[in-house]
Amino acid sequence: MLKWDAAGALEEAVRRIRGGETVAFPTETVYGLGARYDSEPAVRRIFEAKGRPADNPLIVHVDSIGAARALAGDWTPLADALAKMFWPGPLTLVVRRAPAVPDAVTTGLNTVALRMPAHPCALGLIAGAGPIAAPSANRSGRPSPTRAGHVARDLDGRIPLVLDGGPCKKGLESTVLDVTGEVPVLLRPGHVTPEAITAAAGGVRVSPGVMAPLPEGAKAASPGLLHRHYAPESRVIVYRGGEPAVHARMAQDYARLRAAGHRPLLVGTGEFKGMDAQRVRDADDFAARFYSILLDSERDRTHILLLGFDDRGLCLALLDRALRAAGFAVENVDGL
Ligand code: TXA
Ligand code: MG
Repeated sequence: MLKWDAAGALEEAVRRIRGGETVAFPTETVYGLGARYDSEPAVRRIFEAKGRPADNPLIVHVDSIGAARALAGDWTPLADALAKMFWPGPLTLVVRRAPAVPDAVTTGLNTVALRMPAHPCALGLIAGAGPIAAPSANRSGRPSPTRAGHVARDLDGRIPLVLDGGPCKKGLESTVLDVTGEVPVLLRPGHVTPEAITAAAGGVRVSPGVMAPLPEGAKAASPGLLHRHYAPESRVIVYRGGEPAVHARMAQDYARLRAAGHRPLLVGTGEFKGMDAQRVRDADDFAARFYSILLDSERDRTHILLLGFDDRGLCLALLDRALRAAGFAVENVDGL
């Protein structure tokens, strides 16, 4: 592990990526596990290190709109407008792919996911090594890492280098938006919210599979929607409803679990006096700390009881990740 801005660190990472190795690096959302997008063996190393299902495509990270245009078969005015508005930043655009993008990256789809991250380390790597294919730097099915230590623990012995950029500022993965049609389709909610997309593009549709499990055997618009995701080892339960009632119920369940010899953790905006709890200020704070709360508590907590916010703005992304971590186990407190 190297501090990303230590002397020679970025150069070493660029050298390794050019040579076909994988390197974990910080972005503003979560840590990514990168390799050159244009080498099938390099891309295969990402799938091997993560144990990633062969049908789940990767995002290609670029450092300019020009580079994105070169990887797109068809860079539409809609894609261009959204990129100008939100890049660099937590928005991934799914567009038709150019022939230059190998099947290894898109897993054979005729589209490619593109994103320009807002982090000097990520941008420095891309500037040195060219566009980088990178999923989140976790073993498949595990929570995404938001600190270098999470990556090191999860991928220990499977990757040659982790660049440490401290905690990720946003904390949830980018918004994934299909812009191949006239109306953008939300495939994964994130910090770029449906409200912001509507303001920029005139509208947005939410894909089936976001916020609710797809029925068995259904075909997903985004392969990621089908795979079990973000699951920590502790049992996660999401509580929805008005906040005072929810907090009261969480405290009750906490007491019941403790009495039965379990070691629960509460996460919410309440005070939770005398209980083991992580108190979050608001949705941004919760998002930034979400995965580290899951990852840092899974070894000594049997249950994690999460406040589920409403589904407006950033809360939609938080709720989506919380529901996935919980395997869609929800307690509806006041009949919501
Ligand atoms: O914030 C992020 O997006 C992070 C950082 C590292 O950039 N990356 C990330 O990658 O979360 P990953 O692989 O964990 O999630 C990418 C998601 C997956 O659900 C995948 O199925 C979907 O994007 N995806 C990728 N290419 C796609 C495509 N061509 N069509 C539809 N969905 C696609
Ligand atoms: Mg991931």
